[in-house]
Amino acid sequence: MNGPMPAQTESALRISGSVGANKVMESELLRLVKRSPFHVRVPKPVRQGSMALRYPFDPAIAWVAACYHRSSSRIGIELASSPADRLEPLVADLVPLLAADDRLPRGRTVTFTVEVKGVEDFEAGPLQLRGAVKSAFEQAIQKRGGQAVVQGKDAEWEMLVRRVGTGEDRRTLVILDLGRGPRHMRGQRVAQGPAPMRETLAAQLVLLAKWMPQLEPLVDPTAGSGTIAVEAALLARGIAVRKPDDLPALRWPFFEGFPPQSPPLYPDTRPFILTSDIDEECIAWMIGNLRASGLTGRDLEKTIKVRSMDATELTPEKVAEILPDAPDGRGLFAFNPPYGHRMGGTEGDVLGLYRDLGRTLKRFDGWRAAVIVANEGFKSAFNARPSMVKPTSAAGLRAEFLVFDLGERQGGRSR
Ligand SMILES: C[S@@+](CC[C@H](N)C(=O)[O-])C[C@H]1O[C@@H](n2cnc3c(N)ncnc32)[C@H](O)[C@@H]1O
Repeated sequence: MNGPMPAQTESALRISGSVGANKVMESELLRLVKRSPFHVRVPKPVRQGSMALRYPFDPAIAWVAACYHRSSSRIGIELASSPADRLEPLVADLVPLLAADDRLPRGRTVTFTVEVKGVEDFEAGPLQLRGAVKSAFEQAIQKRGGQAVVQGKDAEWEMLVRRVGTGEDRRTLVILDLGRGPRHMRGQRVAQGPAPMRETLAAQLVLLAKWMPQLEPLVDPTAGSGTIAVEAALLARGIAVRKPDDLPALRWPFFEGFPPQSPPLYPDTRPFILTSDIDEECIAWMIGNLRASGLTGRDLEKTIKVRSMDATELTPEKVAEILPDAPDGRGLFAFNPPYGHRMGGTEGDVLGLYRDLGRTLKRFDGWRAAVIVANEGFKSAFNARPSMVKPTSAAGLRAEFLVFDLGERQGGRSR
């Protein structure tokens, strides 16, 4: 036994997300960097559990991730870690490490915040831990001839504190948030239905299904406020989540000379999308959210359609009528149906809906369906065998991503 690793300066780029998101976050980053203005190779990350990827720090990769990455919850740079799980030893470890860290500013005033999460096995409560890390940061900046001032909103330095690793490697980790807070807060949603979906999960769903916007339309038949359609269109065009100007950490010397703008990576893609819901009230929400995301320009008006309709009445002909210019012969349904937990419906209602959806979508030969659902009865009611099952969590519930190949001959079980 070597004993726990001592406190140390860290440097990894850290991309974290929801349970099971690692693979999809990794492939999204590869795709983005390939399309970015930088000629860099993305190394294989080290996975920390199923929710975080650690890359050797490369400013180009960090810049791309902070601006464009859609499936992650947070993007950060690891600063320091300590095996301490008590306040005093933690502060004693952090102060000298941070004071000697030349990534931190010297000789000036900085504003900062500290967010603490997932620290249940730390000996003190989250508020005390937050106070301790604040104090360590203040002391470190003072030693560097400056002053650190706590500021709730728009702080220059947003520090995150997490407990990571297992067994002897369990540590308290201090991260500098690069991507301006939780990534699902896109700053675009103007309206949400009673059961809106996290944008990061919607992005994961579309990426997991490997949607190819040049080759196939995407239909969300139970769209609510249209989160999946919005994310799909933004992914198709490679539109940034954040502008470099809005990311204080990108003012670091590391990023000097980096592009001041983050233009769309695929500006010419014309995504064909139908977003519909049985509830007419959703129409205004969907249009509002598409507009707020800049997805209602003249070129997109013809390719992104909003409708109010019963999903169980969809036919390939109807979809072709609504999206006449879309490629035919294949397509992707991407949706999250009601789960039967919080929308006032009963379990029987949703199982009936799943069954009817299964029958309806079988008409779409050559299509796929990607579903996120927190109801164990979905698969058997939908009556098809998924080609992919991936556990996740949605709205605090255990959920699954499911992908099905559709059509009469595909994966259906006989009744
Ligand atoms: C969980 S919500 C979808 C939330 C959505 N992804 C969002 O981000 O806002 C499920 C939606 O299914 C809709 N729905 C229920 N039955 C339907 C049906 N037969 N046809 C179409 N939509 C239906 C509900 O009106 C509700 O908006």
